[in-house]
Amino acid sequence: AISSRFEPFSNRDKTLVVQFTVKHEQNIDCGGGYVKLFPDSLNQEDMHGDSEYNIMFGPDICGPGTKKVHVIFNYKGKNVLINKDIRCKDDEFTHLYTLVVRPDNTYEVKIDNGRVESGSLEEDWDMLPPRKIKDPQARKPDDWDERAKIDDPEDTKPEDWDKPEHIPDPDAKKPEDWDEEMDGEWEPPVIQNPEYKGEWRPRQIDNPDYKGKWVHPEIDNPEYSPDPHLYAYDSFGVIGLDLWQVKSGTIFDNFLITDDEKLAEEIGNETWGVTKVRGGRGQ
Ligand SMILES: *[C@@H]1O[C@H](CO)[C@@H](O)[C@H](O)[C@H]1NC(C)=O
Repeated sequence: AISSRFEPFSNRDKTLVVQFTVKHEQNIDCGGGYVKLFPDSLNQEDMHGDSEYNIMFGPDICGPGTKKVHVIFNYKGKNVLINKDIRCKDDEFTHLYTLVVRPDNTYEVKIDNGRVESGSLEEDWDMLPPRKIKDPQARKPDDWDERAKIDDPEDTKPEDWDKPEHIPDPDAKKPEDWDEEMDGEWEPPVIQNPEYKGEWRPRQIDNPDYKGKWVHPEIDNPEYSPDPHLYAYDSFGVIGLDLWQVKSGTIFDNFLITDDEKLAEEIGNETWGVTKVRGGRGQ
């Protein structure tokens, strides 16, 4: 765990951009590569996994199953994860991670200066209760018929339907040397009856009373009220790395917090962009 303090600010009415580069030079198998942005009130000496943060952002890798970019917002004391899957980079090269949060409650996630996800905070995080809920008053009527097909009442089982499944093999013969006294009474082996038709089932017809699948009507959720300030925090004051890794050796660099998206892109070009080109293979 390591952290750094800066002049505290609020992102109210402003765009917030958080950007950094991360390089898993050790070929990481399991470990975090994200940053946390804390309120000014954080006691840095006591920073740990449960310290309350505003935003957690960046890659997280564990085995083949977890290779994702976390974007977590603290909303009214709860850490709320994005409900979309953003895949992170899992190679040994330097990558640039950028989170943009705008005062119109939209966001964008970029990797290597290219957009990988974007949308609205309200839709992609369950910070607010849902707008609509199932009407608790509505009930499926008892006579609502959801069966598309029914047994044909006209259809009856043919009289000659029932036949045994197995019959004695008519071609089997008692062996010449069969000794009833020694071997007991001879019985022919049984075979599958070619006339056996299985269990009889009536033909299926369209159900004349079929009403389709019942859809529970929805109503406006009385618990829901919009929050135009989902994006806003009163205070940011500390950026920290609070990580757990199986193999150490990750290189973090080029931390940037700004309200200027274009500047972030430029600095991304000048830092990550340059090392990418110089190394030839994205070193
Ligand atoms: C960053 O680099 C890309 C690729 O060279 C370029 O298209 C883009 O305009 C650059 N962005 C800025 C803000 O300079």
